[in-house]
Amino acid sequence: MDQLELIELIGRLKRNEALVEADFDRIVHSKLSLHQIAPISVLLARKQRSELEERFLQWSFKSSADLQGAVQAKYPDCAREATLADDWICKLFHETHCRGNIGAGLIKQLISKFVAGRLKAEVMAAWLMIVLKEGLGADDTLHLTRAMKASGRDYNYKEDDDLASFTFIRRYPTGGVSEKAALILPSLIAAASAEFKVVSPFLVARSLSHTGGTWDKLSSVKGFVFPEPGDQTAKTLASCGVAMTVTSGDFNPADRLLYQLRSATGTVDSHELMLSSIASKQMAVFADYLLMDVRFGQGAFLKSIDEAHKFSRGLEGLICQAGIKTFSQLTDTPLPGGAAIGNALEVAEAVAILGGQQNTYWDERWLLEQKSLAIEFFCKLMSRVHPSLPSRHWARIAQKWLSDGTALAAFKRILVAHAVPPELADNLATSPFTALNIPNKPIPVTSSNEGLLTAIDQIGLGNYVNFVLNGGGNQYSNELDPTSGLILTKRLGDPVQMGDALCLLFTNRRVEHLPQLLKCFSIGQ
Ligand code: URA
Repeated sequence: MDQLELIELIGRLKRNEALVEADFDRIVHSKLSLHQIAPISVLLARKQRSELEERFLQWSFKSSADLQGAVQAKYPDCAREATLADDWICKLFHETHCRGNIGAGLIKQLISKFVAGRLKAEVMAAWLMIVLKEGLGADDTLHLTRAMKASGRDYNYKEDDDLASFTFIRRYPTGGVSEKAALILPSLIAAASAEFKVVSPFLVARSLSHTGGTWDKLSSVKGFVFPEPGDQTAKTLASCGVAMTVTSGDFNPADRLLYQLRSATGTVDSHELMLSSIASKQMAVFADYLLMDVRFGQGAFLKSIDEAHKFSRGLEGLICQAGIKTFSQLTDTPLPGGAAIGNALEVAEAVAILGGQQNTYWDERWLLEQKSLAIEFFCKLMSRVHPSLPSRHWARIAQKWLSDGTALAAFKRILVAHAVPPELADNLATSPFTALNIPNKPIPVTSSNEGLLTAIDQIGLGNYVNFVLNGGGNQYSNELDPTSGLILTKRLGDPVQMGDALCLLFTNRRVEHLPQLLKCFSIGQ
């Protein structure tokens, strides 16, 4: 079984199709690592409470000696008789499995051993699966958040003499498809920095599961370097008002490691794991005001507005403990954020929104939507910093900067402050497809039906780009292809004729799994 067969199998499980004995044998005899197989255990554990689940979980746990503890926890009767080398793992698994109180001590031990490389990823993957299945109590979520934050150092760049007089602002999303305010909003903040005394240590993350990541998108620009936490970040902030900050060095190594493992093991959508991941990063880098962009709906991890409300309250409660004034905006995701899905393509779309090169690929309706969302975030943050000025004042300024080249010039300054050669930054603004090496002959993916476009499966599209085209950056995937992706050519409700392109596929590889891609579009009446 290879990676693609595995993806196909995961797809079947997600559609609630039952696995048969032959599938089970194929998995057990495959050469895939436990990391790759783990999502199947999770899906089985969630959807098929069958003998197969028991057998599969037993097998996957048994495949690592360290997982003995996990097996014992799942079968407590055996645990009593067992002699366990790693008693604490057994207790941890047992408490998590029984929804008991794990406690700060065990959680700290788990995180510090994992970060020090003294706990196998398989053991952590098994714990993540149990958390996904059983949940984690509020106290333990707080312990996990604190342990992750404490796995590295805290940074308060406001203590730097050059930055002391600035107000620190930031916005952070909970994840979506083609969500790229993080490529637009920083330019508005950089444009405002000197005059309105604001700066932004703007945290960005990698792609996660089916969603995109600004870390990967910016990495598709040749030469782009994320500053190391500490002096380099402070210098970047002072030079252009924005520093794109990632969990490198001693900034939250626990999240750096867990984030990718969660993505590879299909355990991302545990709300408690999301809370601790997001809050532990935010709490470690001071800001005066943080706007949490909480996405819900079809393309997001949070499915309903109620879930989003609850999640935002949880986040605000955690992050405020670090003295960061946190507030949320809840945004529905009936459609992807923009037309482009894929790292370099999303940078090109952001350039068009910022007023750079326009071309026929970009549908004005997507561009306007993204522009207004970025402006809304800018207004909300600036209104907190300068409460005497009304929101419409900031909206007017942002509109002007996006149309008169000010925002684009600020974007180029940000790129140059992050080591991109000035000539490339210029080229990116005028001919982004060439500057980003995007394949120049897109393949139209055409409809064989006619009617109206009634649904777009965003998770399917995101998975296709991240896992089939290898657009998702993850240490567990084969290779990363930042230039591949797709551009949607229709929106919900648009009429579709037979043979019309539903999207354009950009890839240098042999096109594979097209039916999987076509299934993401529903044509009805
Ligand atoms: N963003 C994060 O940083 N972590 C998550 O778990 C989800 C979104």
